[in-house]
This record gives sequence, structure tokens and C-alpha cells, in this order.
Amino acid sequence: MVVHKTLVNGFAYIEIKNSVAEAKVALQGAHLFHYARMGEEPLLWLSEVSDFEYGKAIRGGVPVCWPWFGFNEDKSLPQHGFARISMWEFVFGDEVDERTTTLTFRFSNNEETLKMWYYKFLLELKITISDRLTMELKTTNLDDKSFEISQALHTYFAISDISQVSIKGLDKKPYLDALTWKNEVQNGDIAFNQEVDRVYQEVDSEIVLGDKNREIHIKNDGSLSVVVWNPWIEKCKRMSAMRDDAYQNMLCIESANAFDDARVIKPNESHVLKATIF
Ligand code: BG6
Repeated sequence: MVVHKTLVNGFAYIEIKNSVAEAKVALQGAHLFHYARMGEEPLLWLSEVSDFEYGKAIRGGVPVCWPWFGFNEDKSLPQHGFARISMWEFVFGDEVDERTTTLTFRFSNNEETLKMWYYKFLLELKITISDRLTMELKTTNLDDKSFEISQALHTYFAISDISQVSIKGLDKKPYLDALTWKNEVQNGDIAFNQEVDRVYQEVDSEIVLGDKNREIHIKNDGSLSVVVWNPWIEKCKRMSAMRDDAYQNMLCIESANAFDDARVIKPNESHVLKATIF
């Protein structure tokens, strides 16, 4: 079942239910903000105090950061790009079988985007809702010049307690520590007892988020970088649309093309960033 819904303020989203999973996706940003397998706790974290308002990114779920990840050199432009705060077109929902629903969203250049980023493009996001969650973000260059993008499927995972979780699969990977801007190398699994904001590079294997009663697997394609972020106590207090203690129950593991992994796309060529979560 694929149902169109709107909040009282007019904020539009799509709700999906099939025999194995359910999900909600906002038209702004093609932003998936709920995904859960039937009878299980949600996989994605969503802030209880998130804005659901045009022009503001939802805090939680999977923001699509595009065409740049992080800050732009021009500080007047939005952090993490404009895709997550732009309206997308819902192209179609396909109920492939009783266990699998695919949703396709599209976003292309318009007068507003050309003021911020002078290229013509087509961006498509295909989300597959089943016992696995799959997101495929395809960028096509419709311009006559090459362009460079950095991007992320900025997934917020719901966790039981930040001090109890671990991330496996990044051992020995080089990373940029965004708190010190130093290059480091990971030693062992990641555990959390302070703020973490890192861009791992050369990541070509599966990542496993270990929580008390479950393991979440993340497999990326068309991506060699992964961002790991938890704001911890002080930054959490300064973050918009987050409760002061929200850092305890969320952890971002972002499937990215960031920093050294930014991609150049030639005219008429495409690049697909794909994340499979199970
Ligand atoms: C992460 C960055 O990807 O996004 C963090 O590594 C940043 O530095 C976080 O704070 C949230 O960004 P925003 O723009 O959604 O507040």
C-alpha cells in the first residue's frame, strides 16, 4: 500500500506498508524518515522535536546530502547541499510483490538550484522497502561541462545506548578526523565515549553496527567513504531540532562520496551511490 499524506501545515509525505516492512518518505528531499520491519523497532532514528517544515531538513532518517557534503566554501549556501531542503517529484511506487515496494523520486535543476550550483543535472532516488532497505541515488550530468559532487546518504540509526554499541568493518582504514582535521588510522572496532565526527576512506567492505539485541549491516556500492558521527553531550545541546540527550540513542553511519572520494561526472554520464541496510 502506497498512500499520499500531508501534515496540517501542508508538509507532504508518502507512507508505505507491505507484508514485511513499513516506511515514510517526505517529498521534501525524498527524505526517508521512518523504516521498520514488521514487528521490530524502527531502524532509523527520528528526533522527537524534528521540524517538518519546508526549507528545514528533517532531523533523522536519511537526509540526502547533495551536491556537496559538509560546508560549501561559500558559507551563505546550505550545509550538506540543497537536495535535502528541495522539493522532489514522486515519480512512481511499484508494489513488486507483497514483500517489496519500490519508490522512485526525481529532482532536477531549476532557477533556484542554478543560483547555488551552476550545472544542469538529474538526480533520482530509488528506495526499496522490504526486509532490507535499499537506496540508490543516481546523479546524471545533463550539462555540457563536467562537474564534481560530494554526497551522502546521511543515515541516522536508532540505537539502544551509545555507550553500548560498536562499529565493525573499519579497522585499519584511514580517516579524516573532522574535529582536529588530522589524518588518522582506525585501530580495531569503534566504541563511543566522546564526540566522533570522522570521514573514513578506502572502505570497500561491509560495516556492522552492533547493538544490544541486534546487528545492522551496511553495504555500500559506488562509495569508498563512510562518515561516522555522534555529537555527544556538548554539541548535542547546540544542535537544532534535537533534545539535549538525543546523542544517547542515535548514531550516523553515512554512505558517502566525501573528501578524497568526491566524484567527477562527465556530460551525459551518471554515477550511482547505493546503500543496502539489513
Ligand atoms: C555530519 C557531519 O555528517 O552531519 C557533522 O559530519 C554535522 O559535522 C552533522 O554536525 C549534522 O549536520 P546538519 O547540517 O544536519 O546539522
